[in-house]
Amino acid sequence: MNLSEQEKALIQAAIEVSKNAYIPYSHYPVGAALQTSTGEVFTGTNTENAAYPLTICAERAAVFSAVSAGHQNFARLAVVSKDGGSPCGSCRQVLAEFGVELVVLICDLSGEIKHKTTVKDLLPFAFGPANLEHSSKI
Ligand code: THU
Repeated sequence: MNLSEQEKALIQAAIEVSKNAYIPYSHYPVGAALQTSTGEVFTGTNTENAAYPLTICAERAAVFSAVSAGHQNFARLAVVSKDGGSPCGSCRQVLAEFGVELVVLICDLSGEIKHKTTVKDLLPFAFGPANLEHSSKI
């Protein structure tokens, strides 16, 4: 698949951050690199916990890092793992909050691309902010 230099750099950033994964239980490192529409890159990796459900995925770590720095408009996300696994359902929902047009590059740890897709394709018929636009307190 033909990738732009920007996409290759984003995948490389995801590979780099995956080396920081805290994964004593799964031994499954994941790295995510999220590029804003103005070009900044925010990364995240999975951080596990002895209380298993408290684990945070790489993708959500990247989103929360970007939002904490004041960014809410995103262009593309690279996510890397051993086998090029897809973002989990919870991460798809969190990504959808900020726009279903986001391009998602799913790769393995060598940088080989498995899928180039969008949040819209990963989470069709997403529930999102628009569903709550006309809701009011009763
Ligand atoms: N994981 C992610 O970081 N992202 C996903 O979308 C799927 C799963 C992590 C969570 C856990 O640390 C490990 O992969 C195995 O589930």
